[in-house]
Amino acid sequence: MRLKRALRATVTLAGAGVLTAAMMVSLAPTASAGTTLRASAAEKGRYFGAAVATGKLSTSTYVNVLNREFNSVVAENEMKWDATEPQQGRFSYTGGDRLVSHAQANGMSVRGHALLWHAQQPSWAQGMSGSALRNAAINHVTQVATHFRGKIYAWDVVNEAFADGGSGGRRDSNLQRTGNDWIEAAFRAARAADPGAKLCYNDYNTDGINAKSTGIYNMVRDFKSRGVPIDCVGFQSHLGTTLAGDYQANLQRFADLGVDVQITELDVMTGGNQANIYGAVTRACLAVSRCTGITVWGVRDCDSWRGSDNALLFDCNGNKKSAFDAVLNALNSGTPIPTTPPPNPTTPPPGQVGCSASVSVNSWTGGFVATVKVTAGSAGTRGWNVNLTLPSGASVTNTWSATASGSSGSVRFTNVSYNGQLAPGQVTEFGFQGNGSATGLTPICAAS
Ligand code: XIL
Repeated sequence: MRLKRALRATVTLAGAGVLTAAMMVSLAPTASAGTTLRASAAEKGRYFGAAVATGKLSTSTYVNVLNREFNSVVAENEMKWDATEPQQGRFSYTGGDRLVSHAQANGMSVRGHALLWHAQQPSWAQGMSGSALRNAAINHVTQVATHFRGKIYAWDVVNEAFADGGSGGRRDSNLQRTGNDWIEAAFRAARAADPGAKLCYNDYNTDGINAKSTGIYNMVRDFKSRGVPIDCVGFQSHLGTTLAGDYQANLQRFADLGVDVQITELDVMTGGNQANIYGAVTRACLAVSRCTGITVWGVRDCDSWRGSDNALLFDCNGNKKSAFDAVLNALNSGTPIPTTPPPNPTTPPPGQVGCSASVSVNSWTGGFVATVKVTAGSAGTRGWNVNLTLPSGASVTNTWSATASGSSGSVRFTNVSYNGQLAPGQVTEFGFQGNGSATGLTPICAAS
C-alpha cells in the first residue's frame, strides 16, 4: 500500500519542456589567484566539497581546515540507511541534521549520500526481500528525502548498483532482486519528496570508458528517453597510482546525455603520481561545463577510510600537501562555467547590477518546477533578491533555498541565511513549485 501511495504522489516530469530564459555563452579559460579551494572553485562556478564525520566537528584542526577550504559537505556515514532508519519506521536524523546546520552556518551546500545502497543497510532490511523490501526501500527514500527537503543540493539516490568486471550489468543484491525497476522507482520517489534536489546515480570504477561505466551510461540514456527523473551522475573516483586517459572523455559523454556530472568521493593512492592525478582530475572536471563540483572523501590523511594510503589533500596536522597545490593550481587556471551575461554589458537594466539570474522550468499539465540560478557580479553579494512576474493563472505553492513574498503576479524571492553571501562570480540556486503554466519568465536580480 505504501508503495502505491508513493507512486501515485509522484510528479511526472516526462516530456517536460525545459526553457532557459537567457542564452549561455562560453568563456575562455582565465587565470585567477584564489588561495583556498572553495574560493577558487566558486570563481569557476563550481563547489569543492569534503566528506565529513560529524564526530570530528569538535576537533579544531579538522574544522578549521574544513571551514577554510570547502564550500560543500557530504556525510561520510550519517545519512546512510543504517544510520537514518536503524529500526523499520523509526528514523534518526541527529548526525545528518548536525551536518546540515554546520553547512548552513558556514556557507556550504550539502550532498546527500546515499538513499539506497546494497551496503550499510540496517539489519532489518538485510533480512527482507520481495515486495516487503521494495515497499520499505521506497518508504525510506520518501521519508529521508522529505526530512531534508530544501536542504540538499544533490542526492545520491542510488549508490553502486552496477557490477564490476566486464558484464556491464547490475550487481546482485537484495534490492536488485526486487526487480530491475527498483532504481527508477527510487528516483521517482525522491523527485516527489524533494523536487528541488538534483538526483544522482553514484558509482566507482567508472573512471574512464569501460564496461561498467558503459552499463551506467546506457541506463542514464534510457532514463532520459523515458522521462525518469535523473539529473546527475556521480563518479566516486577512488583512485590508485594511474588515471585512465579517457577520464575526461567519459565525463563528457555523460554530460552529453543531458545530466550534470560530479566527482563525488575523490581520493588517490599516495606515491609519486598523487599530486599529478589530483591535478588531472580537477582539470578534467573544469573542462566539462556540466561538471558542477568535486568532493574529496575526507579532510586529512588520517581521516581517510583508506587507512595508510595517505590519500587526501592535507596531512594529519592539517598541513597542505603537494596534492593540494596541484588541485588549487588546476582550479585557478580552469574554465569558468558559462554564465548568463546581462543583456547589454554597457547599460545593464535596473536591477541587474551586482547579480544576474536565469531560470529553467520543468512543466507538466497544470504545474511546474522552476530552478533559478543566481550569479554574483564582480563585487560579490551580501544578499540578493530576484523578482519575477508569473503569467496570469500561475501561482507559487512551495519555495526552497529562498523566501517568497507574494504567490502570484509579481513575486519577489529573497536569499535565505546561508546563501546570501556570494563571492564574485559564485552561483547559487533556489527553486519553486507552482500551479498553472510558467512560460516566458524573466528573472531580475538585485544584490545588496
Ligand atoms: C565508507 C566510509 O568512508 C567508511 O567510514 C565506512 O566504514 C564505509 O563506507 N563508497 C561509498 C562510501 O559510496 O559511502 C564509502 O564510505 C566508500 C566507498
